[in-house]
Formats: sequence, structure tokens, C-alpha cells
Amino acid sequence: MRLSREKINIDYEETSRFFGERAKKLRLDERSRVLDIACGIGRWADAITQDISGYIGVDFSKELIEIAKSRNTKENFSFYQGAASDISDILASHHIQGINKILMMGILIYLNDNEVADLFKQVGSIAGKNVTICIREPIAIEDRQSK
Ligand SMILES: C[S@@+](CC[C@H](N)C(=O)[O-])C[C@H]1O[C@@H](n2cnc3c(N)ncnc32)[C@H](O)[C@@H]1O
Repeated sequence: MRLSREKINIDYEETSRFFGERAKKLRLDERSRVLDIACGIGRWADAITQDISGYIGVDFSKELIEIAKSRNTKENFSFYQGAASDISDILASHHIQGINKILMMGILIYLNDNEVADLFKQVGSIAGKNVTICIREPIAIEDRQSK
């Protein structure tokens, strides 16, 4: 990671604590079926400590999916390589239904407006009843390079 033009080592324990605190806001329980669109190495999967019905992470990077699989080995956690634009087909091809928690963490910034609109349309068709959708994106601030 680079801050203020200096290289610093990533503190994985601190990162895990950070995501763990935020994951509490998802109010997960044993009925939760989580879809993590653009899951990367599965940092949000790491942060889920509750018993849930299932977690599905999708990312178009094969390397990141391989890392995610090796780091998260819970039997009801699955990771698939694929593009956000194909999310409905990916779920259908794996017979996955009943998604009620959808994470889009740091993905929208990579998409063009028409792709965002298409993704939201797909998310609307995937979502089961009483779905929670959680979106997280970075924003630029004036002093972004200061610690
Ligand atoms: C900033 S990272 C966020 C990773 C993860 N959501 C997190 O919060 O730790 C962005 C991720 O989006 C993935 N990505 C970018 N464009 C994508 C697309 N069109 N379809 C699927 N994944 C995509 C990248 O491979 C990368 O893992």
C-alpha cells in the first residue's frame, strides 16, 4: 500500500478488524445468502464470522479468485470467476437463488454508466424479498494523500 508516497506494509489484522466492524452493519443471520460482486481476495468473506446460509463471491480476476478460495475454505462459501455483467448467468449456471444480501464494494468505479445501469437491472432481478444491498466506493478528498 502507498500513502504519502511511502511504501508501508499492510497490517492484515487491522484490515480484518476494520472489515469485521463494518460487516456487523449487514445484520447477517442464518437466513442470509450473500452475493459479493467483485469480491477480490474475499476480504468481506473473511469478515463474516456469523453462521449464514451461504456466501457467493464473484470476481473477474482468476488470480484473485484463487487467492480467495485458498483463504476462505468454509464449505458454504463459494467463489467463481466471472464479470459483473454476467452475474445473472453465473448464478443461474450454478443454480443459486434466494440471494438476500448483495455487496458491491469498490466495483462501480470500474464500470461505465451503461454497465452500472445494466448491473443494477440484474441485481434487481436476482434479489429475493427483503434484500439488503450494500455499496461502497472511494471518494476523493482534498487531503487524500495525508495520513
Ligand atoms: C477495489 S477491488 C475491491 C475488492 C473487494 N470488493 C473488496 O472490497 O475488498 C475491485 C475488484 O473489482 C474487480 N473487478 C473490476 N471490474 C470487474 C468486473 N467488470 N467484473 C467483475 N469484477 C471486476 C477487480 O478484479 C477487483 O478485485
